[in-house]
Amino acid sequence: MAGGTKTRSLKSPSTSSMPGSRYLITPATWRDLGALRTLEQICFPKDVWPIWDLIGVLTLPNMVRLKALAEREMVGFIAADCRLREGVAWIATVGVLPGYRRMGIGRALMEQCENEISLDVIRLCVRVSNQAAQEMYRVLGYGVKEIWAGYYQDGEDALVMEKIRRLERKGL
Ligand SMILES: CC(C)(COP(=O)(O)OP(=O)(O)OC[C@H]1O[C@@H](n2cnc3c(N)ncnc32)[C@H](O)[C@@H]1OP(=O)(O)O)[C@@H](O)C(=O)NCCC(=O)NCCS
Repeated sequence: MAGGTKTRSLKSPSTSSMPGSRYLITPATWRDLGALRTLEQICFPKDVWPIWDLIGVLTLPNMVRLKALAEREMVGFIAADCRLREGVAWIATVGVLPGYRRMGIGRALMEQCENEISLDVIRLCVRVSNQAAQEMYRVLGYGVKEIWAGYYQDGEDALVMEKIRRLERKGL
């Protein structure tokens, strides 16, 4: 994992209720467990992960894990599971707190996460009803690969979306 840190200006700070005008994307660690738990409960009320899964995304090897900070608080998070043997990275979760949405933070998390993934194929699952997330993925170049019927606990179907890149590798 490259672990770079970027500071970007908010896309439209004037239309935001956010007091500051900048956010920072930086690697997350196990110290972020409390903040991540709160963020996940707010962003995914229907699909709350058990605490063991949250500990897993913050500690397991071959994971990219990034947080977005505003005013030193976690306002967004993304994690990707890089399955090296399969040659596929799965975005395990991405969420931005409601008061910080439509400012470019979700896209910035996705783009930095993609930059830190060294595999050509990236996939993710999204509820068929989740138009906002699907639109963000489409804008970023993801297409629908298949549908997993009844994938979610309440029976909703999942779209599996995929992006295939052709990364340049040193020595090839
Ligand atoms: C999906 C989510 C992460 C997007 O985060 P965000 O910070 O608001 O996204 P961005 O501001 O970077 O938006 C990037 C683009 O995605 C699309 N998009 C994002 N939210 C959208 C919405 N509500 N409606 C339509 N398009 C939307 C737009 O094309 C947007 O670009 P634009 O603002 O220039 O039009 C956020 O809505 C969220 O946390 N949702 C709850 C958790 C979730 O559903 N996660 C995904 C699970 S698969």
